[in-house]
Amino acid sequence: MNSLLKELSEEHRSILEKLEHLRSLTDTHEAVSKNKGALKETLLELRRRLHLHHGKEEKILFPALHRLPRIREGGPRCSLFMTHLMNDNIAQSFIESAPDWVVLPTDPPEMEEIRAENSPLMIPLKEHRGGDIAMQCMLHELDQNPTDEGEFLFLLNRFSRMLRLHIEKEETCLFLIYPGSS
Ligand SMILES: [Fe+2]
Ligand SMILES: [Fe+2]
Repeated sequence: MNSLLKELSEEHRSILEKLEHLRSLTDTHEAVSKNKGALKETLLELRRRLHLHHGKEEKILFPALHRLPRIREGGPRCSLFMTHLMNDNIAQSFIESAPDWVVLPTDPPEMEEIRAENSPLMIPLKEHRGGDIAMQCMLHELDQNPTDEGEFLFLLNRFSRMLRLHIEKEETCLFLIYPGSS
């Protein structure tokens, strides 16, 4: 496997481990308030890992894919995700409902051209931005006293589903068409 894809796959495993840890700390509503400190620490670490990971994808992986005609063709594995997006576009809903105090992540210059021409079937960009907004909202919820445990779990469930699908799309669609992937 190409060394960039290998590195990104390993990072996916470490991101999913942190996600699993978050879920293990929230097996009941009461656990959210009880484990506030550990949840905050885990979320901050997950956010740090995602920032580094997204930086590599946005500067190297996505620009290389964007120039390929195959990225516009979809194909069975890539099209599968269109169904998820049409049924429930979680990233879009995080972006649309972002509170005023949220700090939107800045795009690297490489993303300008891609954003202008992109469609959800091509590069899954909105999920990077939507995920960061969701993590900021979860951290904000943990800082409230009392924390609304139901709201926190709602955000975490939506965020987890989106992140798992995003990683699945990258590994079963984008990585396969990346030049030199095999
Ligand atoms: Fe990604
Ligand atoms: Fe990724």
